[in-house]
Amino acid sequence: MPEENVYPSITAVAGANIALIKYWGKRDAPHELNLPSTGSLSITLKDLFTTTEVSPSDGLETDEVWLNGVRSTDPRLPEYLDRIRHRLGGSLPHCKVVSTNNFPTSAGLASSASGFAALAAATVGAYGKSLDHPALSELARLGSGSAARSIFGGFVLMARGHLMDGSDAIARPLIDERQWPLDVVIAITSEQAKTHSSRVGMVHTMATSPYYPAWVEHNEQRLVMAQAAVERQDFEALADLSEASALQMHASALAAEPGVIYWHGATLDCIHRIRELRQSGVAVFFTVDAGPQVKAVCLPEETEKVSQALQDISGVQDVRCTGLGPGVRLL
Ligand code: DP6
Repeated sequence: MPEENVYPSITAVAGANIALIKYWGKRDAPHELNLPSTGSLSITLKDLFTTTEVSPSDGLETDEVWLNGVRSTDPRLPEYLDRIRHRLGGSLPHCKVVSTNNFPTSAGLASSASGFAALAAATVGAYGKSLDHPALSELARLGSGSAARSIFGGFVLMARGHLMDGSDAIARPLIDERQWPLDVVIAITSEQAKTHSSRVGMVHTMATSPYYPAWVEHNEQRLVMAQAAVERQDFEALADLSEASALQMHASALAAEPGVIYWHGATLDCIHRIRELRQSGVAVFFTVDAGPQVKAVCLPEETEKVSQALQDISGVQDVRCTGLGPGVRLL
């Protein structure tokens, strides 16, 4: 009888991340490597995370993936696992993956970012290999562009890169979450999965929005300024740049044909409320991703006030508060 290889089960945890300077569009066609059209800048969150356990076994005929207690039929996941195995080399068996988010999935709360970061780290570990963080970032990006950033904690810069093999399109940490502690208050206006995934929305925007080239040009310039604002911990400058990046990303999507609209009425009400707070001297700004939720980024001493203000808005179903957190780790 052939000898069975024995692999341990490995569990990884990765925090979701929120882009302050957005990634919206890809420079590779047909987008197999998720190479971004522009760099991006994000913050990794402490209390919204994915936990993923990977258990390889010679006895499995296919990969078996469970997401939040439900067996997944998404072909992207076994394809992604094949790509990891291919990169690791050798003959590696299929695996069982059990992954759970502690927040709503696919509702514009960056579940693909934490999901692919945790999956990449746990899979590499379970096959008994070890990769450094830049290599893990590259691997996570193959699953989802934003996942490259969840490998690191605190403030993270994702490079656009120029090489077509993607080896320079990776993230790196800028400053640690303890160096500049900010809070994020998330107003959940719908827990339904969004109608257009980020991927579909950005590809459609690239293909049909006359504003897309302007988005790319302005976002690249903003990224350089935002990096400097983070390095000198300039909240006001970061606030202006982040709000502009979010609004211009949505403007490019709205101008697609047909237009992609991620917002609900309550999304807009939250944005107005955050602007009022900021005008009244509260250190807070907003950002919105490919979904109807609003993320308010604030100094920790303002969290209570911001959270209360957003809870009072009709249509806000829940409010979650979190600080910034570390990068991916194995348990
Ligand atoms: C609006 O990383 O989900 O959240 O690379 O196609 O998987 P794919 O897209 P994804 O897009 C994230 C878009 C965004 C902005 C951001 O996180 O930078």
